[in-house]
Amino acid sequence: MQDTQPKTIYLKDYRVPDYLVDTTDLWFELDPKATLVKSRLKVRRNQAAGVGLPPLLLDGVELELLSVTLDGILLSPAGYREFPEGLSIPVDRAEFLLEIQNRINPEDNTSLEGLYLSNGMYCTQCEAEGFRKITFYPDRPDVMSKFTTTIVAPTDHPVLLSNGNEIERGNYGADRQFVTWEDPFAKPAYLFALVAGDLEQVEDSFMTVSGRTVKLQIFTETKNVGKCDHAMRSLKSAMRWDEEVYGREYDLDIFMVVAVDHFNMGAMENKGLNIFNSACVLASPETATDSAFQRIESIVGHEYFHNWSGNRVTCRDWFQLSLKEGFTVFRDAEFSADLNSRAVKRIEDVSLLRTNQFSEDAGPMAHSIRPDSYMEISNFYTLTIYEKGAEVVRMIHTLLGEKGFRKGSDLYFKRHDGCAVTCEDFVKAMEDANQVSLTQFRRWYSQVGTPVLDVKDHFDETQGVYQLTVRQSCPLSEKQEENLPLHIPFRVGMLDSTGKEISLNEQGLTETILHVNGTEQIFEFFGLKEKPLPSLLRGFSAPVKVHYSYSNEQLLFLIRNDTDTFNRWEASQRLALNSLAELQEAYRKGEPLQLRSELIDAYRGVLKDRGLDPALSAEILQLPSEQFVAEESVFIDSEATVVALEFARKAIAEELADEFIRCYCELNSQKSYSPDAKDIAERRLKNICLSYLCATETQEALDMAQNQFDSASNMTDSAAALTALINYAGDSQAENSIAQFYTRWQEDAQVIELWLSQQSCSPKRGTLKNIRALIEHPAFEMTNPNKVRSVIGGFANRNFKQFHKNDGSGFEFVADQVIALDKLNPQIAARMVIPITRWRKYTGAHAEEMQMALQKVADSHVLSKDLFEVVSKSLG
Ligand code: PHE
Ligand code: ZN
Repeated sequence: MQDTQPKTIYLKDYRVPDYLVDTTDLWFELDPKATLVKSRLKVRRNQAAGVGLPPLLLDGVELELLSVTLDGILLSPAGYREFPEGLSIPVDRAEFLLEIQNRINPEDNTSLEGLYLSNGMYCTQCEAEGFRKITFYPDRPDVMSKFTTTIVAPTDHPVLLSNGNEIERGNYGADRQFVTWEDPFAKPAYLFALVAGDLEQVEDSFMTVSGRTVKLQIFTETKNVGKCDHAMRSLKSAMRWDEEVYGREYDLDIFMVVAVDHFNMGAMENKGLNIFNSACVLASPETATDSAFQRIESIVGHEYFHNWSGNRVTCRDWFQLSLKEGFTVFRDAEFSADLNSRAVKRIEDVSLLRTNQFSEDAGPMAHSIRPDSYMEISNFYTLTIYEKGAEVVRMIHTLLGEKGFRKGSDLYFKRHDGCAVTCEDFVKAMEDANQVSLTQFRRWYSQVGTPVLDVKDHFDETQGVYQLTVRQSCPLSEKQEENLPLHIPFRVGMLDSTGKEISLNEQGLTETILHVNGTEQIFEFFGLKEKPLPSLLRGFSAPVKVHYSYSNEQLLFLIRNDTDTFNRWEASQRLALNSLAELQEAYRKGEPLQLRSELIDAYRGVLKDRGLDPALSAEILQLPSEQFVAEESVFIDSEATVVALEFARKAIAEELADEFIRCYCELNSQKSYSPDAKDIAERRLKNICLSYLCATETQEALDMAQNQFDSASNMTDSAAALTALINYAGDSQAENSIAQFYTRWQEDAQVIELWLSQQSCSPKRGTLKNIRALIEHPAFEMTNPNKVRSVIGGFANRNFKQFHKNDGSGFEFVADQVIALDKLNPQIAARMVIPITRWRKYTGAHAEEMQMALQKVADSHVLSKDLFEVVSKSLG
């Protein structure tokens, strides 16, 4: 916690490190309350930093310093200076051996940064700046060192792991053992990892393209060994995919994955020893939903891909975070798209981006994908860095094409292997390999906000010329001075009045990329017989908002005829948004609500079209979330939003009940579970039908849900049925199902996390009273981020109705939880507060209540750096 106001760090202040560390030898004697850490560093003056010998500065936080030795001479306390966040040691030589001993307390470490205990297992998390909570060190990614690590632990912790290869093991005294690991690759401290515990392992192997055999191991508690198959399969697919698509081979003889229950994020790419949140690695058909299966595949891929995009080539400083994260998210998205349904993956990613990243871009913490300042770097592991960063890489891919992009990535890896580099180096490699200029494109790295494209069209009948006028703009936040025009790849196609694609040139091309790079441009198309219907921003070719005034009939036409799958879905979203806006308007005016027929017609068409890919049908049939509706409005009327969606859902369910029943029955097969794309799509469509049916609240529908709940053989069907019952059944039926589910699964942490969030996200059962009860439930644990995300995060982010209650009680509740959390885990506190920081999008009393809740947090105690940054930027 802070006693002075946190400092802001600026990219423009970056300096190369004064000293480098060639080798790092670590020695750990593990003990819950008093772990001894000894480090031996070969330090060398960095010639590139200048002349003279400035004092050596080491980072260190919450460490008990025992001794400092320089070239074998023990320094007296007068020989160095300790301050709250580190150590300064005057030196008189350009090369020396520094030995430090210190003590740490893993048991009391609830921040889950540095070395901590999770269910008796020791585990580390060092990214971004956690290594400084283990020992004194130049904890910055541009200091890369070869690590050797010895772990000494009592024999009840038989599995002792660290990065690289095991080189020695043996007994240490009567009741302890040791293992020594050596990592042949130089790495920054943030990629260091250590694990010690009583773990079981699942083993397999992988033969690389060049014929080397790599040992693959997944470590977990004994009770979970049956839940590792899917992760292992995903790992092998990822290793093969990176060889085939990027020419990247794995570089060590062993690759280890560890599952841990207490973890702040999804997973971590430590060299050769990836550490995973249990929820992102463990799965079985009985216990995990389809989306969990897919999440695991993509995260296993993501972390594996970091071995090249992140580890072999790493970041110079944390302002470059998107260099590894944006690129790696793009890589994992393509991996998932290749293995499953490409269209659905794209729809899901765009949906996440537009709902959550766009609102981040418009909120108080808005930043570019390469920010120029921060107070606490942990706050910048954001959707902007990850998802928008991936969109920027995707645009480079679009501009250069598949082959050109590969040439660029080959050059990038070759040129920078073993180095800590910048986003600029990435763009430069892409340019150099393709002899193109991305000068204007670079603005995507530094500009904040979501660009808007206003599109107007005109058809000249006599000449047969169709004109598209595109204006780009980008709303400024208060802190920005100007935004220059960006280079935006704008993919478009056109349909004629029969729904056929129109050729856009002599070669018969039906799709083209318009290079939008000015404030206003006119694009002309010749030789047309009639005014076409444009299909704009196909595949979501850039992370922008497009404004073009389609009529509802045109949207319906696009849903039926567009050849671009993404835009068929997009048209359905626009049509739904228009319909919801009309309902909101009527509600505000006190007029009777009526859902427009185009939307029902569109849905009916989808349900009747047997030829349609069920994955696409499922996507189209889903109404936009409250959060997306809110993001799309200038000012949010939370009550009208909830009313409109509830009304629309029920109206659709009643109008199309027969179609939903037919579709449900057709898909309700008893075949055995497989997480492949086709089966997942069918289950999804079936469960969407079930959910609509239950929205009618008829006994018949609720019986169907009860039936599915009682007989389901996989978690996807079981959870979907439970959600339907929670949201639509009467109290006793819902409560019985909730209790029954808990009794059956109480020993399974992942299922219980799901169970908690199903309740906290339910507009019906996730009332504040019930949320308070969940927090008191024995299954809840304030020190476990997954449980906190399930209950508090679920309530604040996904239960729009209850969280946004007009009395402000939801905001105050979240504020109180954030205050409590900050003392345990600042990173999680800073995440949970975000929903109440968006108060500027609301009006009147609602905005004031949110602001008051935020002020309550600000006034409660001396905030952690993490929480201080978010709260102060949101209030200021
Ligand atoms: N680097 C991790 C990933 O994206 C995320 C992470 C960040 C994990 C910080 C832990 C701490 O793969
Ligand atoms: Zn990552």
